Amino acid sequence: MKLEYILFIDSGIGGLSTLATTMKKLNFNYIYFADNKFAPYGQKNSEFLRTRLEEIINKYTKLYNISMVVLACNTATTSSISYLRDKFPHLFIVGTEPAIKLANNCKFKKIATIATIQTVKQLGLSNDFKSKLISLKSLATQIEQFMLYPNPQNNYKILKSCYLIKQLTQNCDCLVLGCTHYPFIKSKLKTIIDIPIIEGNDGVSNRVLSLNLAKKHKNSSVKIILSLKNSNNLKNYKKILKQILANQINLC
Ligand code: DGL
Repeated sequence: MKLEYILFIDSGIGGLSTLATTMKKLNFNYIYFADNKFAPYGQKNSEFLRTRLEEIINKYTKLYNISMVVLACNTATTSSISYLRDKFPHLFIVGTEPAIKLANNCKFKKIATIATIQTVKQLGLSNDFKSKLISLKSLATQIEQFMLYPNPQNNYKILKSCYLIKQLTQNCDCLVLGCTHYPFIKSKLKTIIDIPIIEGNDGVSNRVLSLNLAKKHKNSSVKIILSLKNSNNLKNYKKILKQILANQINLC
């Protein structure tokens, strides 16, 4: 019988923060698809993202026995999840949304959420969320670059963004990370910002567990599929992906 997989999708390394959290709880066969060729998703429109995600899911569900798809990306989720669930009714599709409800439940009064332009646009269309929404155009790209090439220039860009976030969240009592790339700078942010920082990876992995697909597996396996803009990055990508999955890079 063909191996059963869970497919994780993000525009790059961000969704690995979600996969790493899920792998701590569930041994399974995973496929991780990093769509760097079309990154950043946060600067694409909904129509483009829906078509692109449909294309990816179509292709890989034909090649592999995939029973669940995790959109390990807030931008993909907020723009496309309903569309994709309609297109693929036989699949479990789990999304990643900024953990604003969690922050509300924790009784924070002035919540700030940082996310990509596209996510903020989608959240702004919904009245469900009580939060100040802050869109950061380049932060996901800066993080991806810093992870691949951790040199002083890239570090400086990240620090600058952290101070900007500090400035924009003055008077707030909690910060929600609304992009799966952001947990990779949570430890830096914590040294600069002194309000609690919340992210949604635990919620997503719990949702995956609750759907209880799995015949239990003894070990996990991860197949990585990279769609790269620039093949010169391949070596560094492979290195960083391995480090994250081997937990050499801490998320908090
Ligand atoms: N990691 C993605 C998210 O959670 C998006 C990053 C990008 O803009 O490509 O929104």
